[in-house]
Amino acid sequence: EGKIKGKKAKDLTIKEWKTNKGIVEEEIDKEEIDKEEIDKEEIDKERFTKDQIKNLLEVPSNQIYGDYSLPCFYFTKIFKMAPKLIAEVIKEKIKMMDTEGILKNLEVVNGFLNLYLNKENHIKKLLFEGRKEDFGCGKAGLAQTVCIDYSSPNIAKNFHVGHLRTTLIGNSLYHIYKKLGYQVIRINHLGDWGTQFGKLIVAYQKWSNKEAVEEKGIEELLRIYIKFSKESEQNLELEEEARSWFVKMEQGEKEALTIWKWFKEISMIEFERIYDLLGVSFDYYTGESFYMDKVPDLVRELMEKHLLSESEGAKIVDLNQFDMPPCMIIKKDGSSIYHSRDLAAVLYRKKQYQFDKCIYVTGQEQKLHFEQVFKVIELMGYEWSQNLIHVPYGLVRLQGVKLSSRTGNIVYAEDILTEAIKRALELIHQKNPNLDQPKEVARKIGIGAIIFHDLFHQRMKDVDFSWEDVLSFEGTTGPYVQYTYARAKSILKKAENKPKIDEVDVSLLSDVTTYSLLKIISEYKESIYEAANRFEPSVIARYTILLSTAFNKFYHECNILNADENLRDARLIVVDLTQEITKDAMGLLGIECPEEM
Ligand code: ARG
Repeated sequence: EGKIKGKKAKDLTIKEWKTNKGIVEEEIDKEEIDKEEIDKEEIDKERFTKDQIKNLLEVPSNQIYGDYSLPCFYFTKIFKMAPKLIAEVIKEKIKMMDTEGILKNLEVVNGFLNLYLNKENHIKKLLFEGRKEDFGCGKAGLAQTVCIDYSSPNIAKNFHVGHLRTTLIGNSLYHIYKKLGYQVIRINHLGDWGTQFGKLIVAYQKWSNKEAVEEKGIEELLRIYIKFSKESEQNLELEEEARSWFVKMEQGEKEALTIWKWFKEISMIEFERIYDLLGVSFDYYTGESFYMDKVPDLVRELMEKHLLSESEGAKIVDLNQFDMPPCMIIKKDGSSIYHSRDLAAVLYRKKQYQFDKCIYVTGQEQKLHFEQVFKVIELMGYEWSQNLIHVPYGLVRLQGVKLSSRTGNIVYAEDILTEAIKRALELIHQKNPNLDQPKEVARKIGIGAIIFHDLFHQRMKDVDFSWEDVLSFEGTTGPYVQYTYARAKSILKKAENKPKIDEVDVSLLSDVTTYSLLKIISEYKESIYEAANRFEPSVIARYTILLSTAFNKFYHECNILNADENLRDARLIVVDLTQEITKDAMGLLGIECPEEM
């Protein structure tokens, strides 16, 4: 406090301002500011934008201070004048901007500018926002291309819950960018090349056979891979043998490639099953093996640009001056590596798709890998290295352990998905035994619940998976939102008539409950932009919860079907907008909404 007292009002942070309003006002009064000195031009400058103001608006705890309030203190640092005076200037400016007559009144109280809305005009505007084509956001990405590299499981290994996360986040980003009008290219960078395939070939020849692999698929491949890891701890020759098989693969040796190709087919069958369940698809399955033969060109270019150096027989790009370990390009035995295949991949993508942005969705443990790759692209002189974006995410914890395929604590993502569907079906039998097509609805609910649970968490936060949280019909869950959608649909079905927005009396919608719902409806577009800018599907998931909660409150408090005709029609418009936006928003997460449940 003492410290704050000593500070000039304009040097305080917004938090200090809020917690010390009284003290600050005292200080301001002491500041001698000559009104004439105010440089009004400042406020017209670009840095004083509409969005900036919007973000700062607060909802006062007491309605007598308006529907919104703008703490003008924030601008004191920029404009070097007292908040009260700034508020006066902004007031005039906003008055001029309000051509639609949305504001009834503006009042300056101390450093705050309080805004009182003209509800009827505002409601019209809110409704209008909600029913714009594509909710008003279909043109943002015009003529721009985004590549999204996601899912990318590893051949011959199980599709684990980490891969489920990249698949769901990537798929949602695809829908979000698509909605904004971008051309989106979905790339599955399969882990289908690397030393591990040498290991698998050795393991297969020693401990397995055709029938076993055909019968058990990935499970068998995983079993022998784990066995290899254990055995090779004792027997170092195994590693050597594996390395030489991988070198053979790189050199195009037929026997090696035949086995590899077969393992890949076996794995793809299982991956496709998961993608089908999730409703996820890709434009290209160009995995690491696709870029293998493009690495020599990369090496040549790096050499020409004097970026390549030799280290213990390997070829590397030295990144010491950037505080990073060297980026390995070619290993001692002459083979390519994860890094060099990623470099070749991004050069190929740029040439092929001319992307404006290339996004990589992987676990955060790959942060350094992408920093290195992006750095090398920058050093190669490509200024588009700036448009390469790593979108990392946190862990999924199942009973508190991070599972690894090597330790044998294996969880298959597919098992979680089928279990979710099974449990959803049980719920349907309990709650609504007469439902049409229960299996199809169970699929939508079960899968939707898993997707929602994952995407509701902020990307970087770890996810604790528990069945109770996933499939509950209450709280922040997918089934809750789906249920709300079905409820809205059923009201519309019962209503039979479909009123037109221009024909209803919107002044009937100005009660607090309906009005709050309308505000949320009008904010849909903004949440799409925010989700895209932050690569954060959780923004949309949270939005659907806000919308559902507000709608359910409206449903319980406002009689819809039994209200007088005019009121009923006006309310039906609100129901209709809610269901439309809910379905659309869930679609952005990759979730389907059953019409009935
Ligand atoms: N296959 C890798 C893994 O499972 C992810 C690949 C991510 N994409 C990329 N271009 N490196 O960890």
